[in-house]
Formats: sequence, structure tokens, C-alpha cells
Amino acid sequence: MSQTLIAPSILAADFANLQRDVELINNSDADWFHIDIMDGVFVPNISFGMPVLRDIVKHATKKIDVHLMIVDPDRYIKTFSKLGANVLTVHYEACTHLHRTLQSIKAEGMLAGVALNPHTNIALLEDVINDIDLVCVMSVNPGFGGQSFIENTYDKTMALKRLITEKGATTLIEIDGGVTNKNAVQLKDAGADVLVAGSYVFKSENPTDTISGLKEMTK
Ligand code: DX5
Ligand code: ZN
Repeated sequence: MSQTLIAPSILAADFANLQRDVELINNSDADWFHIDIMDGVFVPNISFGMPVLRDIVKHATKKIDVHLMIVDPDRYIKTFSKLGANVLTVHYEACTHLHRTLQSIKAEGMLAGVALNPHTNIALLEDVINDIDLVCVMSVNPGFGGQSFIENTYDKTMALKRLITEKGATTLIEIDGGVTNKNAVQLKDAGADVLVAGSYVFKSENPTDTISGLKEMTK
């Protein structure tokens, strides 16, 4: 199997030194930038919006993975495409016409992702899995960084991997929330392709080494 991708979450960066932190990721073993957009409605928190993303993209040299934690994400698909998102992930719980939303994301030239809250069952994706480029399995309740990892995520990841294999899909599995060196290997073994890590990376003494450590242990 190919190497696990590491996607540091900018939510845990120092916003007063954003360029420095973006360059830190550029010069590290990380693969993607994970960008959390929250609207204060779908989740009980507001992160940052388009002007900040525009400045991140100006300096970033790696793929931009945008995680929309917003209601009615269809309204902003074109905007995020123009801003330079490579992967655009919407929440299953925020989409009434998910199949249509996925087609709209792909029509804008982005990979289409679907995020699942911890209570949302994998089986709900059965009829649409072949249309999804990435499933983001939330291993915390979305809205905040620094929360602790929900253990049920291992079983959920394995169930998702089974579904992907059964359906002959090429969907990537991303795990988001509470990822550390304590669960990274088990997540990879369960079927994870992309690991998002915010606090574990940015609150560590040496984020560059922390990223290399995650990369190394999930080879
Ligand atoms: C949570 C966000 C995550 C968050 C992860 O709502 O989707 O991407 O930044 O942060 P940590 O790794 O600190 O749990
Ligand atoms: Zn996220």
C-alpha cells in the first residue's frame, strides 16, 4: 500500500505568524494543508474565511484540502475552487442533495470529499461511494481542535474500507480529530490514507520533527 498522507490542520497554527507556519509545512514531510472552515451554525465555532485562505494559498506549495463545516455548502463551491482548493469536503449532515453537490465539486475540477460526524453511519454512503473521492471520518465532534480521539473510529474506518473494496471504489479515507503518534499506526492499519493532525503537530516542541515522525511510523 502507498504511504499515508499527513495533512497538518492550520486551525492549530499561530494566526499571528501564519506565513511562518505555512512555510514550516512547505518545508516539512507533510503532504497536504488541511483547512477548516466553520460558520458558527453547522458547528458551534467560527474559524476563518476566504481572505485568510487566499493568503494561505499565496504561500502554500502543497495541496489544499478544504473541510467545510458550514450549512448549505453548495453556495460556496465555485468560490473555493477559485481560491485554489484541490480537495473540497462537505458534511453529509449538511447536504440534502449530496449526489448533486459531489458532481458540482468535481465539475469545478476539485476532488469531492464527504465528512461524517461521529454519529453518522458508513452504510449511508453505500449508494454514492463510487462518486466520492475522499471520505473524512470525523474522530471528534467537529468544531474545535485539541479534542480527544473517539475510539469507535477504528471500527468505522474498517467498515468504510470494506465498503470501498466491495464497491470497487477508489475513495481515499481521511481521519480528522485527535490524531497523534498513539493512534496513527492503528488508523493506517484500519485503512486510513490521510491523517489530519492539528494540535499534535503545532503544539509540539518541533512541528517539523513531529510531522516526520508521523510520516515515518505510517510508512
Ligand atoms: C475539527 C477540525 C479538525 C481539527 C483537528 O473540527 O475538523 O481538522 O483542526 O484538530 P486536532 O488534530 O487538534 O484534533
Ligand atoms: Zn478538519
